Parts: sequence; structure tokens; C-alpha cells
Amino acid sequence: MTIGKFELPSIVLGTWAWGDSGELGNGYFGSNFSEEGLKEVVDKAHTGGLSLWDTAVVYGMGRSEELLGDLLNHYSREKYQLSTKFTPQAASGSEHPVRDMLDQSLARLGTDYIDIYWIHNPADVTRWTPQLIPLLESGKIKHVGISNHNLSEIKIANKILSKAGFHVEAVQNHYSLLYRKPEDAGILDYCRSQGIPFFAYMVLEQGALSGKYSHENPLPEGSNRALVYNSKLPQLKMVTDKLSSIGRSKNATASDVAVAWSLAKGVVPSIGVTRPSHIDGLFQASGMKLSTNEIEELEAIANAANVDTRRWWEKEI
Ligand SMILES: NC(=O)c1ccc[n+]([C@@H]2O[C@H](COP(=O)([O-])OP(=O)(O)OC[C@H]3O[C@@H](n4cnc5c(N)ncnc54)[C@H](OP(=O)(O)O)[C@@H]3O)[C@@H](O)[C@H]2O)c1
Repeated sequence: MTIGKFELPSIVLGTWAWGDSGELGNGYFGSNFSEEGLKEVVDKAHTGGLSLWDTAVVYGMGRSEELLGDLLNHYSREKYQLSTKFTPQAASGSEHPVRDMLDQSLARLGTDYIDIYWIHNPADVTRWTPQLIPLLESGKIKHVGISNHNLSEIKIANKILSKAGFHVEAVQNHYSLLYRKPEDAGILDYCRSQGIPFFAYMVLEQGALSGKYSHENPLPEGSNRALVYNSKLPQLKMVTDKLSSIGRSKNATASDVAVAWSLAKGVVPSIGVTRPSHIDGLFQASGMKLSTNEIEELEAIANAANVDTRRWWEKEI
């Protein structure tokens, strides 16, 4: 699949967790990572051809963008693609809030253009979408994506952009085995019919579907994701057990199978990576073929677990 002139990698690399301080238990994810380890993540990903990085201003209020910019700066700019976001809820009261937030992202990322610039969350679609047009015209942003919007909002944004000769070129929403609302709401069908790539985020439910965490070994204490998922881990065991058992039959992990499931659904998963081994997992998932039967079994078990993982920033779609 392509966006404009660039060929999309099959998997996007997410860096929300990079907004944490890197100290165990300190931040949204509480992941324990080092800058040295993340450098290895970046180099391994690039060696294998994964070079589209997703971030946002609000991931650690600039920390994720800054770290990503630092780690990418020894690559020439055409060797990687950047995806970052305008978050209406964090907009300033200035005359040009979108341009201002973009300029700050450009400075932190050490670049003069963004490959895909997203409206992060729905607010007033008719207010914010037109403000992207001069930024597209100036070349500071190459392509526009719409995130967390419902189908009618996506269509409105597309109409506004089309009048100026542009269009919505990517859509990004939560989509996992446990949260398949974009399918039910017709967003996947719409994207397919328009040739718009759909980026699925939280495919691993922030680690809760990775098979690494359980009631006995919960998500890092004190982190926000622990507050969301730890109480649900007993209910999720049937899903992670199924992912692991399919994985065992293919010499792969539960995470690899969850990512392979998303690939089988025809979406572009955006996976939050914090360790070099996660990149190995992505390559493993890319080469995995799940049968129709395996996909149906996974979805049936996920439905039976009956866990609602819609998050506070997501409106009903
Ligand atoms: N547009 C939006 O509103 C929005 C919202 C959410 C996310 N996003 C984007 O989507 C990306 C992905 O979402 P996310 O990071 O929240 O959650 P995610 O991808 O579901 O989960 C990421 C976590 O899963 C674990 N993990 C990743 N790969 C693994 C592997 N191969 N094996 C075992 N564990 C693995 C890691 O946890 P440990 O560190 O504990 O190992 C990692 O922090 C974000 O980074 C962000 O770029 C966008």
C-alpha cells in the first residue's frame, strides 16, 4: 500500500511508551527501557525495512518526539518516515494553533517536514481540518491522517480537504482482537473502498495481549496501563492462552500471533516497541499466515472474554 509517493511498511512503530522517563514504574507504561536499548530498536527496525515511526506531542509532552528525533538523526531524512499528531485538546489559544503545534513537533524531531500529520482526536472537525490545508500547501506536512474520528467525521474531513485538492490519506483508530468497533462501524469497509490505509493501534492492548502479563505477573505497578488492565487479566487469560497455543504451533509468541491477526485483517498495525526483541517479533508476525479457522477461533474467544477496552479518549464510534 502507498501513501502519496511512499510505500507504506507493513507495520508502523509506535513510540508512546518512549514518553515515559525510562525509569521502572515512572510513567504511563512503566516500561523499563534505556536510550541505548531504544537505539538498538531503531537500528534493528531500519535494517529490516521498518522505518515509519508514530509519535505525538502528548506522549510525555514532547519527550517521545525528542527522543525519537535524537535516535533518528544519524539516518538521512529520506531513510525514515515520521507520523505525528495535532491534538486539539492541547491546542494553544494562539491565532494559528495547528501550525504552532506542528512547528514545535518539527523542532523536537529535528526535521522540516512530517510525512503523515494526524488530527489526533475528534473535536470540531470543521474547525480543525481546514487548518491543515496551508500546511499541506507549504510542504511542512506531506499527508494527512484522521485518528479516533467516527465514520461521518472522517467523511466530513475528506470533503473539506477534497475541496482544496487534498484528501484523507490514512485513518488511525484502536483496533484489536478485543476491540473491533472500527469493523462494526463500517470504518474498515470505508477505508478499503477509498484505498485509505487503516492504522490499527493498541493491537496488543498495551501489553495485556502479549502473553507476558498475567494475574500472577501483572503490568508494572503504578503505571496507567496497570490501572486499566490488571483487573481484567484473569478474564483475558483464555485469549492469551489461545494466542500462545497458536504461537507454539508456529514457533512464535502470543504477541506475534496477535500482530499476525491484525495483518490478516488487512490493516497496518502500529505496535509500541520498547525492546529489540519486539522488532524480531514483528518480523516473525509478518511472515506468519493464520488460517481462517484460527482467525475465527481467536475472535470467538475474544468475544467470549467480553472485556471492554475502549479508553477514556475514545468516543463511541
Ligand atoms: N491515535 C491514538 O489515539 C493512539 C492511541 C494509542 C496508541 N497510539 C499509537 O499506537 C502505538 C501502539 O499502541 P501502544 O504502544 O499504546 O500499545 P500496544 O502496541 O498495544 O502495546 C505496546 C506494548 O506491548 C508490549 N510489546 C510490544 N511488542 C511486543 C512483543 N513483540 N512481545 C511482547 N510484548 C510486546 C510492550 O510492553 P512492555 O514494554 O511491557 O514489554 C509495549 O510497550 C503507540 O505507541 C502510539 O504510537 C495512537
